[in-house]
Amino acid sequence: MISFGRLVVAIFATGSSLPSTFYYGYSILKHYGGNGPYSDRVSYGIDRNPPAGCAVDQVIGLFRHGERYPDPSTGKEMVAALDKLYAANTTFKGDLAFLNDWTYFVPSTSYYAQETFTGPYAGLLTAYSHGTEYGARYGYLWDGHSDIPIFSSGYERVIETARKLGEGFFGYNYSSVVALNIIPEADSQAANSLTPSYSLTGSLPIFDVAAARIMSQNPAVNISASNVYYLMQMAAFELNARPFSDWIDVFTLDEWASFGYTQDLSYYYSVGQVYVNATATLLNDGPRNGSLFWSFAHDTNITPVIAALGILNPSQSLPTDRVAWGNRWSTGNIVPMQGHVILERLSCNATAIALKDTYVRIVLNEAVVPLQNCQNGPGYSCSLSNYTNFVSTLPSFTESCGIPADVSQHLNFFWNWNNMSIYDYQNGTIPYHDAATNV
Ligand SMILES: *[C@@H]1O[C@H](CO)[C@@H](O)[C@H](O)[C@H]1NC(C)=O
Ligand SMILES: *[C@@H]1O[C@H](CO)[C@@H](O)[C@H](O)[C@H]1NC(C)=O
Ligand SMILES: *[C@@H]1O[C@H](CO)[C@@H](O)[C@H](O)[C@H]1NC(C)=O
Ligand SMILES: *[C@@H]1O[C@H](CO)[C@@H](O)[C@H](O)[C@H]1NC(C)=O
Ligand SMILES: *[C@@H]1O[C@H](CO)[C@@H](O)[C@H](O)[C@H]1NC(C)=O
Ligand SMILES: *[C@@H]1O[C@H](CO)[C@@H](O)[C@H](O)[C@H]1NC(C)=O
Ligand SMILES: *[C@@H]1O[C@H](CO)[C@@H](O)[C@H](O)[C@H]1NC(C)=O
Ligand SMILES: *[C@@H]1O[C@H](CO)[C@@H](O)[C@H](O)[C@H]1NC(C)=O
Ligand SMILES: *[C@@H]1O[C@H](CO)[C@@H](O)[C@H](O)[C@H]1NC(C)=O
Repeated sequence: MISFGRLVVAIFATGSSLPSTFYYGYSILKHYGGNGPYSDRVSYGIDRNPPAGCAVDQVIGLFRHGERYPDPSTGKEMVAALDKLYAANTTFKGDLAFLNDWTYFVPSTSYYAQETFTGPYAGLLTAYSHGTEYGARYGYLWDGHSDIPIFSSGYERVIETARKLGEGFFGYNYSSVVALNIIPEADSQAANSLTPSYSLTGSLPIFDVAAARIMSQNPAVNISASNVYYLMQMAAFELNARPFSDWIDVFTLDEWASFGYTQDLSYYYSVGQVYVNATATLLNDGPRNGSLFWSFAHDTNITPVIAALGILNPSQSLPTDRVAWGNRWSTGNIVPMQGHVILERLSCNATAIALKDTYVRIVLNEAVVPLQNCQNGPGYSCSLSNYTNFVSTLPSFTESCGIPADVSQHLNFFWNWNNMSIYDYQNGTIPYHDAATNV
């Protein structure tokens, strides 16, 4: 997880010349959308550390679960695409030669939907690592004795991620300090939820080219562009559990770039006002009411928050028949596995261009992303008062989504958490959760 910023600093330190070659665009880690391992966001170059004269006095984070096995419904499509290849009953040649020895990366159906725990990108490992990194960065915000709540939506892989990140952050103090609060994903929670909800599969013409290439190398094979889509998705998922996926090289970089865009399309929707509004209240309460707020949910709960903040909205609607090159709504940079958005409350001294005041910064996957219309505080931050004004202009979730008056109109759990620690660890076998049938 070396970010380019750190690399430049390292190079300055050794006195070598600056590199003039950049590889980000050529890495498949940026072209599988939310399906594969975490990578830091490509930054604008704004320092990740607080600007001179400012200190972070409160931090509020929303994390996606870590790297995981596919959901049963997606796994079924992957197996169906594989079965079409195996049906050829042939010795595979060309780009598929590896398939003569390859085995499916999901050991059994009971692993579907759960966090991965093998390989360098294992979900449980990423969560623990992020916890240790955040412990080093923000650990001073814990006073050494108070209970700290961690909020997780009620879904096994999300809960496991919250636990591992908490263990990484608090180390030996995890079990005595952390109060894991599980917020059900049920619709009956209405606005009092981390998952006020809403998904899509895309195909682009270039997937037909990939299918034709595979069939020309293996004439007994018959696969479609849709099978290609799931084989590409499978490559990304295989990386969640194994060091490498041979499937990556079956497809060209151009095909990967298109695949990434199909993922961008499937995420561009919905309402994140609930979380943005509740956290604005926390920022105004300030550290006296708690300095550390970690919440855990799904990709589809983070993208609406990014959309509500208006920091990455595309300048025009996304075409569905071709790739919108250079599109800011690049999912691999927003919700990779364990993607996260952090709100930092900054307490700042006066500078030549900014008053002594409280400011807010948004950090997405370790890169600072300034608000569109409010960025003249230190480090391109926004004053808390202007931030609060901005949040108050967002359309209300309860009004726009017609939430009935007899259910929760607001997110309340930040102020009503239970300090028990009974959910801090998994007890017994991980329950199988079939996302397709919700059992
Ligand atoms: C703000 O200024 C005060 C007084 O000079 C200083 O003690 C404090 O460390 C400064 N805060 C930061 C975050 O630099
Ligand atoms: C696959 O090919 C082998 C060898 O040619 C043959 O013995 C076998 O019956 C074939 N299997 C199917 C399912 O067609
Ligand atoms: C945190 O852990 C350390 C090391 O075990 C221990 O000395 C300390 O009392 C713990 N603090 C709390 C609040 O549990
Ligand atoms: C390939 O499969 C498709 C869909 O199952 C079918 O319509 C088509 O006829 C098949 N082509 C060949 C050459 O078998
Ligand atoms: C924003 O949050 C506050 C505190 O949680 C709540 O009182 C208020 O009604 C919310 N506003 C909207 C528009 O949702
Ligand atoms: C926040 O803290 C202040 C001061 O300690 C207290 O008066 C207020 O009730 C707290 N707000 C909530 C929602 O807990
Ligand atoms: C913040 O709000 C004040 C008062 O409304 C306004 O004068 C100032 O220009 C705003 N700053 C930004 C960066 O929007
Ligand atoms: C929860 O709070 C109560 C009352 O303050 C305290 O006695 C108890 O030890 C706390 N429990 C945990 C797990 O921190
Ligand atoms: C684990 O769960 C079982 C059944 O729910 C319960 O009886 C047991 O006390 C739990 N163990 C721990 C250590 O929480």
